[in-house]
Amino acid sequence: MSDIAATTAESPARSPLAAEVARRRTFAIISHPDAGKTTLTEKLLLFGGAINLAGQVKAKGERRNTRSDWMKIERERGISVVTSVMTFEFEGLVFNLLDTPGHEDFSEDTYRTLTAVDSAVMVIDAAKGIEARTRKLFEVCRLRDIPIITFINKMDRESRDVFELLDEIEKTLALDTTPMTWPVGRGRDFLGTYDVINGGVRLLEGGGAKTGAAQQIEIAELAKLNANLDASAVKDELELVTEASKPFELEAFREGHLTPVYFGSALRNFGVGDLLEGLGKFAPEPRAQDSDQRRVEATDPRMSAFVFKIQANMDPNHRDRIAFARLCSGKLSRGMKAKLVRTGKSMPLSSPQFFFAQDRSVADEAFAGDVVGIPNHGTLRIGDTLTEGEDFNFVGVPSFAPEIVRRVRLTDAMKAKKLKEALQQMSEEGVVQVFRPRDGAPALVGVVGALQLDVLKARLEAEYSLPVEFEVSEFQLARWVSSEDRKKLDTFIAANTSSIADDVDGDPVYLARNEFYLGYTKERAEGIEFTNVKDVK
Ligand code: G4P
Repeated sequence: MSDIAATTAESPARSPLAAEVARRRTFAIISHPDAGKTTLTEKLLLFGGAINLAGQVKAKGERRNTRSDWMKIERERGISVVTSVMTFEFEGLVFNLLDTPGHEDFSEDTYRTLTAVDSAVMVIDAAKGIEARTRKLFEVCRLRDIPIITFINKMDRESRDVFELLDEIEKTLALDTTPMTWPVGRGRDFLGTYDVINGGVRLLEGGGAKTGAAQQIEIAELAKLNANLDASAVKDELELVTEASKPFELEAFREGHLTPVYFGSALRNFGVGDLLEGLGKFAPEPRAQDSDQRRVEATDPRMSAFVFKIQANMDPNHRDRIAFARLCSGKLSRGMKAKLVRTGKSMPLSSPQFFFAQDRSVADEAFAGDVVGIPNHGTLRIGDTLTEGEDFNFVGVPSFAPEIVRRVRLTDAMKAKKLKEALQQMSEEGVVQVFRPRDGAPALVGVVGALQLDVLKARLEAEYSLPVEFEVSEFQLARWVSSEDRKKLDTFIAANTSSIADDVDGDPVYLARNEFYLGYTKERAEGIEFTNVKDVK
């Protein structure tokens, strides 16, 4: 692994800032629930020495949940809604792992987190292949051309045919695959992996898992280790894989067209070292980010960052909010002043925080690619850009069209004004999206995961003493509408007033009863664009 750092961070031609940036790998794990994301996260953190005992990732989730009331929902359901950041160092590189909740009930945070990473690890359960949630998260990665490294997990158990699994990735995701390792033996007879690039077999037993060392071992020797193994069939298979696999091309990977594939068992801590090595070698350094003025290079010395997540009330005694910001360029130093471009005001970054596996700690400095938590009292919103004085806004922190739309019913009608304020705040925090119908009807809330509604209800009650119920609304779908021709948009809005609402920014949204109505309206709305993703400004 040491050669990785040598080829990136320690290159003499780089400035100190560029060297720091080059050491960063900011990534997320995408997977379907149960594929092994938590287990893999633990093992990755173990490699980095960030935690000493496996099992702490879950334990940490539980401890954290006790910190705040509304997170009881998470605890009761045994899931984690919180997207957290874990930083660890390994072999001279700094890995920032952004956790995306993989449970059925997920939220927009999951999607938005993917706007803050430079690469993703796709974990697939070898017995199940590509599952629904993985596919969905993959699509979000593809929107941003995020390179994907694949980890096929649970090879210690019965799996589907390996060729078939690769074929499925290629066909369903339209993504080329290059196996970097290849399993020798299957299920109970899984012996280890063959290093397709360099040759040699790494054995599951005998230290291979821990040291990551590949042993040069003759195929005939393998057969001696396990009587069930047909040595000539294994030899043929490895020859086929070596000859027939697509060669790994860094460019194709970086552009999101090709994925290197690693096999292993997170539970047995096998193959995790290969994966980490692959991340270090191939995953991109912090990428340049688009803003509305210019493309901002990570090595630009002036600090800039965008907020992709707000976590409220991590500590109920202080009613604090933490804005999670991804640094896009330069260096953040504790105590520096940053410009919040939306308001033009300056804000001191007096106690930015880093998140380690077990705790948070104050960050003295952070570099492009890092994620810091900025405590604030509601000043920062999702999508906000912070700079060292420049006026530009990062683009690409999106809102996603809700999959569930509900009308909020207040049990005490006298509190309508308070509800309006509370909903505005909740939407600024990204808890839910709020749509205000132009015809004056009560507000609608939209979410991509049902759990967001439970969180909203619990928080309105706990923080604003507002008991609410949600009613099924006549509308099920929401799409942002726009047009290059302002007049056309005005005409469309005038003709559909009862189906038009404003989102948190005042942008018009068309509400539809169902797909049929949406399709019908679209066909007749010439020159109007309907979108289900909106860039937060
Ligand atoms: P998730 O975060 O993606 O939802 O998955 P998680 O890591 O919690 O793993 C889901 C289940 O799969 C866990 O078992 C875990 O122990 C198991 N698992 C993960 N990786 C492997 C692997 O490589 N091989 C095998 N055989 N099993 C693996 P569980 O019994 O559901 O949970 P737990 O009670 O052990 O926590």
